[in-house]
Amino acid sequence: MIRNMIEETHLSVNDFIYPLFIVDGKNIKEEIPSMPNVYRWSLDLLLKELESCIKLGINSYVLFPAVNEQLKDKLASYSFHSENFYIKAIAKIKETFPEICLMSDVAMDPYSSDGHDGLVENGEIINDKTLPILSKMSIAQAQAGIDIIGPSDMMDGRVGLIRNELDNAGYQNTSIMSYTAKYASAFYGPFRDALDSAPKAGDKKTYQMNPANKKEALIEAELDTNEGADFLMVKPALCYLDVIHLLKSNFELPISAYNVSGEYAMIHAASKNGWLDYNSTFQESLLSIKRAGADVILTYFAKDFAKINA
Ligand code: PBG
Repeated sequence: MIRNMIEETHLSVNDFIYPLFIVDGKNIKEEIPSMPNVYRWSLDLLLKELESCIKLGINSYVLFPAVNEQLKDKLASYSFHSENFYIKAIAKIKETFPEICLMSDVAMDPYSSDGHDGLVENGEIINDKTLPILSKMSIAQAQAGIDIIGPSDMMDGRVGLIRNELDNAGYQNTSIMSYTAKYASAFYGPFRDALDSAPKAGDKKTYQMNPANKKEALIEAELDTNEGADFLMVKPALCYLDVIHLLKSNFELPISAYNVSGEYAMIHAASKNGWLDYNSTFQESLLSIKRAGADVILTYFAKDFAKINA
């Protein structure tokens, strides 16, 4: 009892944003091999899945599109196309469940034939030419009713431009959760399997951060704060608890952390082998992320947490 009384950190389903993958088509529920119990859903089945997750008490979701290879091009033009299934799905989900909080993904990689978050010219990522594409994508998502825009691309200056363009278009109430300190991590592998979005050439080191750097996270956070971000994200979470703590101690904005696909896959792989206990390991991980200072956690464990703690 005394142990409970003086417990400092409490997890609740309200702390989580549950990532979901959507694919065009009907009656599709494809498991992602490196992410057990995580699926690519078509909209019809996703609406049913959302209903069951809402019943379990999960209120916030982030949606990622898996785009057909034929629709990808150098300019990611499908990302803001009026027939884009992802944009149409956002509108349908918000119409069906207006009370949930829905967050988007803004980056070129799901739509880019180069598999990069920014525009590639002669093997280089061109930061400034990427920005208008990201902002068109954001406006299309805002029009569809998204609550939080999630720029995961790490281009410089995108938060400011997106904020400006959203405001000019009348979307002052649409928030921005900036992927502020996003590291060039090996832990994103299973996610890239899920979206078939791995870079076709090169790596993401010219725009994602060096895992060796911590002070740089302060610079990124200051820029995003000044540009009008509403949340600052650290990604991945578990190897970067010190960075979460650093941002929480130095900034007043809510801090989020992305407990990424590789962190999910590791616990599943070990528990499948009988080497780790699934329920206690994933809950201890989530607790440590919150204890480090995260106000919000994007995690594939959200549904299992909600089930266990219902
Ligand atoms: C890319 C993006 C990535 C993730 C979210 N958005 C991968 C990457 O940067 O290559 C990773 C999420 C995860 O691993 O769970 N825009």
